[in-house]
Amino acid sequence: MAREIFGANLKMMYKIPENGCSFYELDKIVRGYEKNNVTSNNQHEVILFAPFTHLDHLSDLLSRLTIKLSLGAQGVSEYESGAHTSEISPLWLKELNVTNVLIGHSEVRKKYEELTSGAGQEKINGLFNRQILNALKKGLRVIYCIGETEDERNSGVTEEVIKRQIAQGLASLIPMYFKDIIIAYEPRWAIGGNRPIPKPQQIESIHRRILGWMLHQGHPNIEDLAILYGGSINSDNTKEIMSLKNVNGGLIGSACLDPVKFRNIVNYKAD
Ligand code: PGA
Repeated sequence: MAREIFGANLKMMYKIPENGCSFYELDKIVRGYEKNNVTSNNQHEVILFAPFTHLDHLSDLLSRLTIKLSLGAQGVSEYESGAHTSEISPLWLKELNVTNVLIGHSEVRKKYEELTSGAGQEKINGLFNRQILNALKKGLRVIYCIGETEDERNSGVTEEVIKRQIAQGLASLIPMYFKDIIIAYEPRWAIGGNRPIPKPQQIESIHRRILGWMLHQGHPNIEDLAILYGGSINSDNTKEIMSLKNVNGGLIGSACLDPVKFRNIVNYKAD
């Protein structure tokens, strides 16, 4: 594996100041990153995943900062063009210097599951598959999020669920596309910033299985695959998580809103 990868998933959790605007608040966070030297370097790459409305603004801001951060969207349309109100084409993302896209985040899966009364796993993975293919064809790098719910974990079907998310979500990928796929394993019960997280050996075991399933899926250079862990990463647990075999980085929600906390994660010191 080359560099480690840390993604900041900027959601609507930051406060909008009275008489202020969310761009202002986001600027404060990103300028806080600059002050704390949160940047991509030889050791790691840092990606900012932001809502669609903020990408243009962020793209402009990033061009004026001394730090280097990659830009990511939190979703993309399965279509390239056409009459699809509210959808975002990957071509538009590219115009804004967006190079990455998150697909299948647990909060998105949850929304679709509610709409399909939980009966549409295959349909939901199929939709992500079309979005993934559309993004890859247009040259975006995809961070595909997978993970089990608390109920699935309690029923002992974690591996089955993740295997299916990979098989259905990454169906029909031709070998050359795999170089632009990153997997983020996010146990859904661990997402929230302050939740219990899996035991180290559980994370290792799932990441090892993911490598096997990705190989089976047709990944031509499995040693190049990055698998991130996500779910309540904080400055206290980063070192242990990052020391685990086949963990190549993290996807961070709550802690990325605080530049000092995020710096401590990104610049963790390995033993
Ligand atoms: P969390 O979120 O770090 O707050 O658990 C993770 C994510 O949104 O992917």
